[in-house]
Amino acid sequence: MTKRIGVLTAGSDCPGLNAAIRAIGKAASGDFGMELVGFQDGFEGLVHNQVLQPGLSGILTLGGTILGTSRETPRELLVKGQSTDMTDAAIRTYQEHNLDALVCIGGLETQESAYHLSQKGLNVITLPKGVDNDVAFTDVTIGFDTAMGIATEAIDRLHSTAHSHHRIILVEVMGRRAGWLTLGAGIAGGADVIILPEIPYDIQKIVNAIIERNRSGKRFSIVAVSEGGISKDTVDFFARSKNANHRIRNGEAAHRVDEQLTEIENRLGGSTIYLANRLKKFTGLDTRITILGHLLRGGAPSAADRVLATNLGTACVKLIHQRQYGVMLASRDGDVLGVPLEQVIGKQKQVPLNHAWIESARLVGTNLGD
Ligand code: F6P
Repeated sequence: MTKRIGVLTAGSDCPGLNAAIRAIGKAASGDFGMELVGFQDGFEGLVHNQVLQPGLSGILTLGGTILGTSRETPRELLVKGQSTDMTDAAIRTYQEHNLDALVCIGGLETQESAYHLSQKGLNVITLPKGVDNDVAFTDVTIGFDTAMGIATEAIDRLHSTAHSHHRIILVEVMGRRAGWLTLGAGIAGGADVIILPEIPYDIQKIVNAIIERNRSGKRFSIVAVSEGGISKDTVDFFARSKNANHRIRNGEAAHRVDEQLTEIENRLGGSTIYLANRLKKFTGLDTRITILGHLLRGGAPSAADRVLATNLGTACVKLIHQRQYGVMLASRDGDVLGVPLEQVIGKQKQVPLNHAWIESARLVGTNLGD
């Protein structure tokens, strides 16, 4: 009997999603003779049974996702303004379409939702995507390479204007908890300072580095800042507050206050404007900010992302053919392998402080704010 595969893209979009959909669809309908059913807007479409038959021609180079996406999850889906557990509805849709497998293309939250559905008995396989490159167990996620190229080009362009006006230009790059994108683009674009969520910065160290550059005749500086960059002062303040909390409270009460403090701390990451104001004040130099934001998620995928999406997409169909489910397709050392979803969930891949990129950045004289 012809196998039927459902496919959806969930979470934030990025370049390369259509290349993955195309690879799954073409490999499925080609040698393996399977049928593809697309669901609109991520898990929302699965829950509400909104089907979209994806046309596979001409989409390899197309940005975004032809299926649409959303951040909704089956367990906490917004129904009439209320967060509702719609897992049963998602399972019903899967059964109504007689699916043999469901492919979920997404980032961290999507891996969690996919695992949840696989625990409920659905045959699920995932592909990792996202410009942040923060999904564990894969060297790289779909969309990362393209975003790194866009950010690098932006830094290249900011160089010449920073140089002409003798300014500090801060360029904010996406990445709330993981600094891969900022680090990669910062190295490729030759940023003078790179600020990552993994390395809380000391403002004085950055000021000293910029003043030193000025003294040596380099009258401009490019500072690449991760969206989630945070100062050491802020981190220390919250550590002290949490200690104080545990001195005066214990048990559940202490835990609740800890959670509130963590939430406020997370919101404070991403204070590029605050950093720019302090750099201007302490260096006396003219300072400007460019926030790249969603520009990093738009447009055509790079060649590397097209190849990655095609490899992961076709490998996924091969696994379905072999009836292997409950895994995420990962790219490791140039190979593709399936990693059990239970290993993937709950983990975020941050930049290790001893990573080769960190060492290289330091060796070429880049200031990392520490
Ligand atoms: O998770 C990917 C990402 O692009 C982050 O880098 C960024 O913080 C976030 O999504 C932005 O999300 P939204 O599209 O909801 O504004």
